[in-house]
Amino acid sequence: MRVLGIAGSLRSGSHNRKLLRLAASTLPHGVELETWEGLRDIPAFDEDDEDQAPLAVAGLRAAVASADAVLIVTPEYNGSIPGALKNALDWASRPVASNAFRGKPVAVIGASLGSFGGVWAQDETRKVLGLMGARVIDVELAVGRAQERLAGPDEELLGRLRETVAQLVAEAQLQSRGGGRPPPRAPDGRPPGHVPSSRFVDGAGRARMRGRVEPSATVIPPAAPMARRRRRGRRRRR
Ligand SMILES: Cc1cc2nc3c(=O)[nH]c(=O)nc-3n(C[C@H](O)[C@H](O)[C@H](O)COP(=O)(O)O)c2cc1C
Repeated sequence: MRVLGIAGSLRSGSHNRKLLRLAASTLPHGVELETWEGLRDIPAFDEDDEDQAPLAVAGLRAAVASADAVLIVTPEYNGSIPGALKNALDWASRPVASNAFRGKPVAVIGASLGSFGGVWAQDETRKVLGLMGARVIDVELAVGRAQERLAGPDEELLGRLRETVAQLVAEAQLQSRGGGRPPPRAPDGRPPGHVPSSRFVDGAGRARMRGRVEPSATVIPPAAPMARRRRRGRRRRR
């Protein structure tokens, strides 16, 4: 069994790359982790070129397609997914119906210098992967204050990494035995989507929406502002 590791940071001393290496050290017997190192070579997504993908993009699609599962380890930039990673996922999401991530077991974890460990970026990465049709594993591992947590041996962190990797591998094994099916498409043809599941407020008092990917859930678009205004107008006139 082969897990593909993708780090969302290009930085040479990346904490997320370190976390990925640590995750590799917790793999069960018979499972190997190969890291994809092509992030820097992926050009900006251009829909005109999606059918004649650049070589680096073809490499990413092939690496994902041939892996049994994918582990994404990402930092958070300005409360969201690093641009380079999001760009790579946009390329990988095409062609929509047969993209390499469709039905693929994927876990998303990450580390940041802040105390929340980059949860926003991880939630958004899960949302994006859910929309792409990946089987996103319902695990969270956000390593805050990465400079301290990754400085030396941390048994608690190793234990949580081991659990995360084990869940990902279990899903991939289920899939390889034919037990895991690709997530169903929503009845109206839209891909399965993302449903915000809880709301919490951080230390700075900012309201944060946390999303959890529900593979079988349908995206429910918010009411258009214009439609809301029209409804309000009708109520007032009554
Ligand atoms: C442009 C930029 C934006 C950042 N935004 C956030 C953020 O929103 N949340 C956070 O926890 N850390 C943020 N950081 C700090 C990162 O957590 C830190 O740089 C981390 O080391 C990046 O991961 P890496 O070590 O794997 O490269 C930001 C850093 C940069 C360079």
